[in-house]
Amino acid sequence: MGLQFEGMAGHSAMSDVDRNAWIDMIKSSNAKTVLEIGTFCGVTCALLAKEFPEVNFLCIDPFMKGVGTGAGVIEHWHKNRQPNMNLFVGTAQEFAERMMNLFAREKDGYAENRLPSFDLVFVDGDHGYEGALKDLRTVNEMTDHILCHDVGRVEPGLDQVTKAVEDFCTESKAWKYARRVGYVGILERI
Ligand SMILES: C[S@@+](CC[C@H](N)C(=O)[O-])C[C@H]1O[C@@H](n2cnc3c(N)ncnc32)[C@H](O)[C@@H]1O
Repeated sequence: MGLQFEGMAGHSAMSDVDRNAWIDMIKSSNAKTVLEIGTFCGVTCALLAKEFPEVNFLCIDPFMKGVGTGAGVIEHWHKNRQPNMNLFVGTAQEFAERMMNLFAREKDGYAENRLPSFDLVFVDGDHGYEGALKDLRTVNEMTDHILCHDVGRVEPGLDQVTKAVEDFCTESKAWKYARRVGYVGILERI
């Protein structure tokens, strides 16, 4: 599955066009912190991490078979790792829960939950309708820039992501699906 790159272990699930959309967004948003949900073998992220050594990338993957998508390979991820890449092993929801507990503080006698924030979030995890929607809801409060991969796909297994993006924008009222470059859907905060 996917594209091979010299010196990298495993594959990237992303075309050059799609990766360039991500590169353009890192540049235009001046991102310094990037979250990648669904890192797979880490190849795409490693290519970006080499290109943007000043940007910190946090990758998330449970390394278990997701819905409609192949599971990442953790050994490949570690081989591909660049100094500015870190990894959380688990789902996006487990990450959010863990961070909320870690950063919880007492405020006015109550626990105030806090989520981390990122300049840019790239959603490419569970490709089922419910899963993609859940990932989008999970990062809703973490960022002002979301890119979602596999928007516009019609192949079975990938064809649910577009509807998840559209429904997320409708329900949240805080985001609009601005445009698509290749199969990268670009969401903007309203
Ligand atoms: C299409 S691949 C990601 C491709 C990668 N972004 C790239 O460019 O090569 C999808 C990945 O999402 C992971 N995944 C599935 N469900 C997930 C979830 N709930 N949270 C985070 N990652 C998930 C899978 O293990 C798989 O490695």
